[in-house]
Amino acid sequence: MKTLIILSSALFLTGCFDSDEVQDSNQEDLNTNTQIEKNLSSNAGQVVFEKNCISCHGKEGQGLVENWKQRQADGKFPAPPVNGTAHAWHHSPAALMNTINNGGIKLGGWMPGFKDQLSEDEKKAVLDYIHDLWPAELQEKYDSRFK
Ligand code: HEC
Repeated sequence: MKTLIILSSALFLTGCFDSDEVQDSNQEDLNTNTQIEKNLSSNAGQVVFEKNCISCHGKEGQGLVENWKQRQADGKFPAPPVNGTAHAWHHSPAALMNTINNGGIKLGGWMPGFKDQLSEDEKKAVLDYIHDLWPAELQEKYDSRFK
């Protein structure tokens, strides 16, 4: 039981906020084909990611440490990878967008929110970029669940 509690709080703190209920009308918006095509035709998402996210999530979203489930010296968990090896792909586009907008501080984490730092287009582009980092089979799974 104890292990279960420790494990589930570890998952919580490593960015697995179960905020999938935050599904909102934005989701449709996030996934329109035009937007996806637009993003694929440029590397806007990569540019946003490299400028704002790699300091914590690593150059290709692989994270900065080998074991992102192990607390850092400051007691916090490292930023999880967003390249498909952690949990990001378990969460709806709306939930991921919520993390990008609001960060994780309110939920006991330490990711800063980018609500006012990035434009809506930049946020959509970076979300698509993260999706592009996942292996094809995860993308397919994700798309059939959420898109
Ligand atoms: C200062 C470090 C830092 C920066 C910069 C940062 N993040 Fe994070 N990110 C985190 C941490 C830490 C978490 C885990 C939640 C927490 O502790 O707040 C996280 C979680 C996430 C998650 C959820 C992952 C999951 O498994 O559900 C996504 C998506 C994400 N970040 C995307 C981004 C994007 C996109 C950017 C750039 C616009 C960014 N992050 C910039 C530290 C950071």
